[in-house]
Amino acid sequence: MMKIDEALQAATKKLQPVVERPRLEAEILLAHHLGCERSRLLLRDRERLERPEAFFALVERRRSYEPVEYITREVSFYAEEFFIAPGALIPRPETEILVDVAAKLIGQRGYRRVAEIGVGSGAVSVTLARLFPDLQIVATDISQEALAVAEENLRRFEVGDRITLKETSLLEGVDPSQVEMIVSNPPYVAEGCELEPNVADYEPSTALFAPGDGTVLLRRIVDLSGELGVSVVCEMGYDQRKPMEEYFRQKGIENYRFYRDLAGLDRGFIVDFG
Ligand SMILES: C[S@@+](CC[C@H](N)C(=O)[O-])C[C@H]1O[C@@H](n2cnc3c(N)ncnc32)[C@H](O)[C@@H]1O
Repeated sequence: MMKIDEALQAATKKLQPVVERPRLEAEILLAHHLGCERSRLLLRDRERLERPEAFFALVERRRSYEPVEYITREVSFYAEEFFIAPGALIPRPETEILVDVAAKLIGQRGYRRVAEIGVGSGAVSVTLARLFPDLQIVATDISQEALAVAEENLRRFEVGDRITLKETSLLEGVDPSQVEMIVSNPPYVAEGCELEPNVADYEPSTALFAPGDGTVLLRRIVDLSGELGVSVVCEMGYDQRKPMEEYFRQKGIENYRFYRDLAGLDRGFIVDFG
């Protein structure tokens, strides 16, 4: 008969060789298994663990590198719990900076109509819609699976009346009059780049990789913003500043700046065609 604290210890030990924070992840999985908050575990530590085999099956999935967010179907983004499922990229903490940069511009300029390219789980569009109650967003993606996850988050956060999801590439078929600004976190990992097994084996490659040095879609999105004459806020890889600067130079684009993450790494850019 295993008690909850014993199960936690055993799971932590099993996860030790494969994850960075084994105790934390064991707690997350156990809280998910028990259907309770992680903070409640301590109060329940002498209780008997029901269905231990089901709990240790979750631990085994994590030991095979499946991301904990796909196991629990939850991911924290901008202090909210979003629904997540395989087929949609797990939103990353650095993308919260993309939201901050986009939000600042929307606030300063009073934009009411924004387009997101590559909505994925919907984390970016949903967060922007919650920050700006008058904002209307058209959000596109080429992946039906990702759009289904976004749909679920639109329902969860009750923003379905202000975000229109569209299955299309870039902004094909989107009415240009609906776009005052573009925000995007497109695939930008260079083809052939080796990623950790939890990413490479489980997350959708269409959300991660772009041909060549990975800047193809970044450049296409800049072109599109220029054609529409609207501002763009876009995430990129920490090592893509040089090729993007070179592209801006070639195109004679001067009104751009890069933004950084908390570690001081280049993380994205704003181009002001507006
Ligand atoms: C890096 S993920 C970003 C998802 C989400 N916006 C986030 O920040 O977590 C990129 C998304 O772009 C989508 N995508 C890839 N190529 C696209 C294209 N040509 N047009 C629209 N979306 C595309 C992928 O399916 C994926 O959902």
